[in-house]
Amino acid sequence: MNLLEKLALFGMHRIDPERAHGLAVKALASGLVPLPGSVTSPRLATEIAGLKLPNPVGLAAGFDKNAEVLAPLSRAGFGFVEVGAVTPRAQDGNPKPRLFRLKEDAAVINRFGFNNKGMQAAATRLAQRPKDAVIGLNLGANKDSNNRADDFAKVLAHCGDHLDFATVNVSSPNTEKLRDLQGAEALAALLSGVMQANAALTKPLPIFLKIAPDLTDAEITEIGDVALAAGLSAVIATNTTLSREGLTGADKAEAGGLSGAPLFESSTRVLAKLSKSTQGKIPLIGVGGIATPEQAYAKIRAGASAVQFYSALVYHGMSLVPQIARGLDDLLKQDGFSNVSEAVGTERDTWL
Ligand SMILES: Cc1cc2nc3c(=O)[nH]c(=O)nc-3n(C[C@H](O)[C@H](O)[C@H](O)COP(=O)(O)O)c2cc1C
Repeated sequence: MNLLEKLALFGMHRIDPERAHGLAVKALASGLVPLPGSVTSPRLATEIAGLKLPNPVGLAAGFDKNAEVLAPLSRAGFGFVEVGAVTPRAQDGNPKPRLFRLKEDAAVINRFGFNNKGMQAAATRLAQRPKDAVIGLNLGANKDSNNRADDFAKVLAHCGDHLDFATVNVSSPNTEKLRDLQGAEALAALLSGVMQANAALTKPLPIFLKIAPDLTDAEITEIGDVALAAGLSAVIATNTTLSREGLTGADKAEAGGLSGAPLFESSTRVLAKLSKSTQGKIPLIGVGGIATPEQAYAKIRAGASAVQFYSALVYHGMSLVPQIARGLDDLLKQDGFSNVSEAVGTERDTWL
């Protein structure tokens, strides 16, 4: 991190977190943030669900909810970018304040509740996307929808032609009862609707499913089975947690989903368990608490073919992106891997 980024973060951490996030997005949009461009190497370049990634380190959903900064994000060093969540209709989300920094814990609590400008606005922006990046959309459901399962298919049908992948997000804790859609029967029905919408696209996409970390072993196995049966292309593990174990930050009792450092271990365990139960039949994307190259590498060795992160950007800024990707390259080299795909799952058992 250079001095300018340190000063910017220092200033941002003195203002309301949601306002600071808005400023970070504006800074990116206005070209004020120095960006490295594509970060790649023969060791880092990989493929997941048919998508060619320059490196396996992606941006997790929620940072760019409305697909407003696709061009700068595509030059930030990420191997792939997931924007959204987007719902069919625009909605305000929960009342403010709804984003909290837990500095002592290197964590974040959010209860945004899918605030976004809706699928029409998203599609307009996505139509202008850079073509040389891998860009996916996190699909969400309106809070007041009378058919939430159908909402995912609607957003996919509307935006799908501008995407490289789409993620069914039934794991946000901030829309009441959304996580109930992770139950085997409800999930299978929902995914069947999404897959029908996908088949109707000009060019059907790889469809991913994003799961919660707060699942029992039996639920993890069940979800893996449903994902395979539905013909999904990958599972993203995990979203934010409802757990508040071991926190010290002043805002630890705020309602919402917890992300960042305290999520690392539990989300990696869920990832490893899912890797074991699906036996490599479906690629996994590891998310939760990554802030160093070592942690990205640990998720890969636990079973992830690629990783994503978000919360660590709040504490370390955008320069963390190339740092993690290049650091991962060094770690792979050190252990004698000629490509990241060779390292996937090589230490899974230590997480079970
Ligand atoms: C402010 C905020 C908003 C988020 N919004 C979404 C979202 O809209 N959809 C989603 O699937 N995940 C969302 N997430 C979860 C992240 O994508 C990620 O799964 C989680 O934060 C764990 O990764 P991290 O510890 O690297 O942040 C959000 C996270 C944060 C912190």
